[in-house]
Amino acid sequence: MGYDKRQATEEFTRWSRSYDRSILQLLLFRPSHRVLIRRIREHYGARPIRVLDIGCGTGVFAERLRAELPAATVWGVDLVAGMLARGAVRWQALAGHVQPVQGDSERLPFAPGSFDVVTCANSFHHYPRQDKAVCEMRRVLKPGGRLMLIDGYRDAPYGWFIYDVCVAGIEGDVHHCSRKRMRSLFAAAGLESITQRVFRGPAPFLLTEAVAPKVSAIPEPHFAVVEAGKRARAG
Ligand SMILES: C[S@@+](CC[C@H](N)C(=O)[O-])C[C@H]1O[C@@H](n2cnc3c(N)ncnc32)[C@H](O)[C@@H]1O
Repeated sequence: MGYDKRQATEEFTRWSRSYDRSILQLLLFRPSHRVLIRRIREHYGARPIRVLDIGCGTGVFAERLRAELPAATVWGVDLVAGMLARGAVRWQALAGHVQPVQGDSERLPFAPGSFDVVTCANSFHHYPRQDKAVCEMRRVLKPGGRLMLIDGYRDAPYGWFIYDVCVAGIEGDVHHCSRKRMRSLFAAAGLESITQRVFRGPAPFLLTEAVAPKVSAIPEPHFAVVEAGKRARAG
């Protein structure tokens, strides 16, 4: 059976106590956050943008983003209350600029077209329905908004050993997507201008980036809307 949300909740409730001190902060999380912040800056400069960070954990990325791009307003969503709770001091210090929300990546509690940028770092391999999560990411992006998703790169032998052998051995049946699979999930969600880049290092990771279509792909209704009690006239 695949990894599920109960397992994610148990894993991160347990890990939340030591999460900010994990060696992975140094090896993977910080380098990946740097890449995301650099990409956001390259696209938006210092403009006041709305960013949603999915799987935000204890808010480390949100804090870094605000420090580097103080005009950004950030929402962080995470499934696990324990992770959000561990970031309490951080959320408090950033109040008014960063808003933590408990929620599931597969059912984001936001209206369509709410964000300029959606980020997701080191979290995607925990989602049982990755296809649904990408569709949700696209739904909450404004037309022309950008999705930036980072997760472990498992295609090369070294990455495969780290993520599919070591990480899966510790976390269970999580799923790090191949480069090809990630691309096809993005395309299936209707995202455009998909680009991918691999970052090598002690824990290699893959950035997949794409743009939400400028014109909604949801077609206009092709039928007449008729008031209750009246009949539509032909022609
Ligand atoms: C390894 S941590 C990454 C945290 C942060 N993004 C970072 O880069 O430091 C993964 C996070 O994803 C969250 N998560 C797992 N499944 C989730 C889901 N279905 N929806 C939202 N968050 C989820 C976990 O609670 C955890 O906080």
